[in-house]
Amino acid sequence: MNNGSVISLEHVTRSFGDRLILKSVSLNVNKGEIFGLLGPSGAGKTTIINILTGQLSCGGSAEIFGVSCGKIGGEVYRRTGAVLDNCGLYERLTCADNLRLYARIHGVAFSRIKEALALVGLDGCEGKKVKALSKGMKQRLALARAILHKPELLFLDEPTSGLDPATAAEIHSLMNDLRRDGTTVFLTTHNMDEAYRMCDRIALLSDGTIVECGEPGELCRRHCSTSELRIVAVDGEKLSIANTPENAEAVAGLIRGGRLQSIHSSEPDLGTVFLRLTGKELDK
Ligand SMILES: Nc1ncnc2c1ncn2[C@@H]1O[C@H](COP(=O)(O)OP(=O)(O)O)[C@@H](O)[C@H]1O
Ligand SMILES: [Mg+2]
Repeated sequence: MNNGSVISLEHVTRSFGDRLILKSVSLNVNKGEIFGLLGPSGAGKTTIINILTGQLSCGGSAEIFGVSCGKIGGEVYRRTGAVLDNCGLYERLTCADNLRLYARIHGVAFSRIKEALALVGLDGCEGKKVKALSKGMKQRLALARAILHKPELLFLDEPTSGLDPATAAEIHSLMNDLRRDGTTVFLTTHNMDEAYRMCDRIALLSDGTIVECGEPGELCRRHCSTSELRIVAVDGEKLSIANTPENAEAVAGLIRGGRLQSIHSSEPDLGTVFLRLTGKELDK
């Protein structure tokens, strides 16, 4: 394990029946970073989180805080929090009662419950039953529960999937606050914009292996050296040309001739990088 690594996977494999889902996954997550695992649905992202949180066995080596994921005990659980696919809240209990259960398990003072609810924008919802909450509010409550005991490492499995943009933005803002406080975040997503904006580093997962890993902007520059110009002429004709010095005259000609209606540069994005590396599209 690297110095400063909070998570380390080396040649991790996992099958379900005779289907090899993870062929050989290797990655390291450093302390204090937001690390994104980006891949289409079915790629194996949740499987990796289940391995890291000790819920699934695997081949190869998987460690968090230097402890093998197959042997995680109370001390490691106290240092980690998770918002998983199935949010696991008690529908008939109130928000505060759901958090009280967790506070007891983790030995957290009840005064922290109000604080955690405020952090996720659920102030005043203590007495509300979970079944009366919207999807976005439930997700925020799951997040409040995950950060109740101030974990050093937080797993977020597609935390904004299916949420409205305003709630997604609030969750992103909370993630930024957590990063400022030094929390390490392991995020899975199939949303390239989320990965690009939120993550210090990302790994692209396809076909059971990590095909690339690095800073999002750096990956885009490395794999897509030119961006595209999308031009609409006054007569409605649409052109798409590479943003290169050789094409400068063609663009200048349109301007001189009074033919240019609009011009947009389309920056290379992580979807393009993924497509170039795997021949596959990320989900929308
Ligand atoms: N418990 C399981 N039994 C059988 N197949 C599974 C199980 N869990 C996941 N899979 C399969 O493994 C693949 C990866 O699933 P998953 O990790 O949930 O992908 P992702 O989270 O990237 O969408 C999928 O094809 C899924 O059907
Ligand atoms: Mg998943």
